[in-house]
Amino acid sequence: MKVTVVGAGAVGASCAEYIAIKDFASEVVLLDIKEGFAEGKAMDLMQTASLNGFDTRIIGTTGDYSKTAGSDICVITSGIPRKPGMTREELIGINAGIVKTVSSSLVAHSPNTILIVVSNPMDTMTYLVHKTTDLPKSRIIGMGGALDSARFKYRLAEALGAPISDVDGMVIGGHSDKGMVPLTRLATRNSVPVTEFISQDRLDQVLEDTKVGGATLTKLLGTSAWYAPGAAVSGLVQAIACDQKKMFPCSTLLEGEYGLNDLCIGVPVILGKNGIEKVVEIELSEGEKAHMNESAVGVSKTNGLLDL
Ligand code: 2OP
Repeated sequence: MKVTVVGAGAVGASCAEYIAIKDFASEVVLLDIKEGFAEGKAMDLMQTASLNGFDTRIIGTTGDYSKTAGSDICVITSGIPRKPGMTREELIGINAGIVKTVSSSLVAHSPNTILIVVSNPMDTMTYLVHKTTDLPKSRIIGMGGALDSARFKYRLAEALGAPISDVDGMVIGGHSDKGMVPLTRLATRNSVPVTEFISQDRLDQVLEDTKVGGATLTKLLGTSAWYAPGAAVSGLVQAIACDQKKMFPCSTLLEGEYGLNDLCIGVPVILGKNGIEKVVEIELSEGEKAHMNESAVGVSKTNGLLDL
């Protein structure tokens, strides 16, 4: 199993590290355009192999896509991250050109690959990949909902005073501060609805904290987060690489599902060796449907900024 991660910045390097530590891939190629940067990160990570107990080989390359040839899965993290106060959508001007070039180069060397898009604005970047490559929609996946759901669970556990392992919850919709749709109705503490434990006011605070989870960290860190994004995307890679048939909220091209068309937005999907093996259509409440439709309007508006 060969995995390529483009972008050896904090998110890409964290993703490569988590993949290596999980030890399900034979090789991880880390590619960056900054001279020596990916090689250095790869070497540093390989020097943890005996300490962290993995056999995955991590190699770095400065822009040599021939090293990525034959990758089963490629992760695109390249592009500029947010600065405090920025929205993800403001990154489109620079990141669209990068993602278009990177995805074309990856597919040219690995025509059978499955592409996972992380670069922001992620839903629109995922849509861009559909428009600029000929990969089937099952092999183009946007990572946002897995990260947002992890942040949702973190905030729920905090509110419940419960261990994270007791909490489950999912966030669908757009990966944006205003576009997320946390499914509080379905959130549970060990199979019991969380509404049995916390007030609606406290739940509303959980929702607000979840929606600005990325922006909160960008304000604290001065740049976008990386540990949770890296871990979230490594989970998608593992589900595909190990054919786990796990369900995640991922950004995927909708063609009528949830009453939506011609956009990529976060919905529950089953991930396996073929990438997105099924889009899971769950029954949404009227409020959730309205929220999802509002989110889709926002994503489509950002898509309209693309020069296609
Ligand atoms: C985040 O929410 C980078 O979009 C990513 O942290």
